[in-house]
Amino acid sequence: MLDGKKVLFSGMQATGNITLGNYMGALKNWIDLNNDDSYQCFNCVVDLHSLTVRQDPAELRKRARTLLSLYIAAGLDPVKNCIYYQSHVSGHAELSWILNCFTYMGELSRMTQFKDKSAKHADNINAGLFTYPVLMAADILLFQTDVVPVGADQKQHLEITRDIAERFNGVYGDVFTIPEPYIGKVGAKIMSLQEPDKKMSKSDENVNATIYLMDDPDTVIRKFKRAVTDSDNEIRYTDEKPGIKNLIDIYSAVTNKTAGEVEREFDGKGYGDFKLAVGEAVNSVLVPIHQRMDELSKDKAYIDGIIKENSDKANYFATKTLRKVQKKIGLPERVR
Ligand code: TRP
Repeated sequence: MLDGKKVLFSGMQATGNITLGNYMGALKNWIDLNNDDSYQCFNCVVDLHSLTVRQDPAELRKRARTLLSLYIAAGLDPVKNCIYYQSHVSGHAELSWILNCFTYMGELSRMTQFKDKSAKHADNINAGLFTYPVLMAADILLFQTDVVPVGADQKQHLEITRDIAERFNGVYGDVFTIPEPYIGKVGAKIMSLQEPDKKMSKSDENVNATIYLMDDPDTVIRKFKRAVTDSDNEIRYTDEKPGIKNLIDIYSAVTNKTAGEVEREFDGKGYGDFKLAVGEAVNSVLVPIHQRMDELSKDKAYIDGIIKENSDKANYFATKTLRKVQKKIGLPERVR
């Protein structure tokens, strides 16, 4: 708890372009929670996590700034909450080292993301990839976080975070708050528009499979028109129709309607009309974000100010936890 509010921590990698799936599965939930005054939110651009894969330096820097701006453009309030770069708060890396010493090789090797990523990057299975969940645990525990909004794919990492925290607390007393997952109501999982049994991915080779948050309106409409469905031309929410189900999920999420309401709205209509409606509904969310991004990109001083103020704020809270941890485990006290 911080000033009587629950602490919420969320992070997103600056690699690749943010997709509609990221927006609905993560960002939109954060925005809803940020606007709820019972939470103090830390929204982090986890740029250190991106280093597990080789990055082009200029590109990484650019993407990190774009993502931070996107947080704001999408509706996160940078004054009420704390929007910052992970690399600007050295406590993340420092706590991560300490927590490494409280984490077992065995439990890290059971992480499904590690198994998947090491299969995908067989030529670069570095130690960072292996200890990635420990850095994530440090992110979360550094702020005495109560809740972490996570998608299904990050639940295992939150579990290990809780295990590490409990293990540490078991030895040193109540040092860390044990975080709870927060799984959003809607749009938990948006699927590929081309292979609707696969998650929508940043890195899909088929450009028509993924809606990127920065796609222009015509591109969005075109991609929805090409979305893979089925041939019975009936708008019904069922697992047997994964393409249509996904489009209903997307439409529900942006219009806040239930699947049943969407079925009734499009009763008797064809797929063509429905796809166009989904595209337009998505554009009604994306276009204002684009306008705001455009304004922000022209106001360098404003973004710089946010970066500075929020990293100071994050550093303040991070240092508090870090000093407590250092003291508990027996590192020498600082002389002032
Ligand atoms: N590992 C998360 C992902 O790939 C990103 C992340 C890093 C994160 N640190 C976090 C998410 C802390 C929530 C809390 O999506």
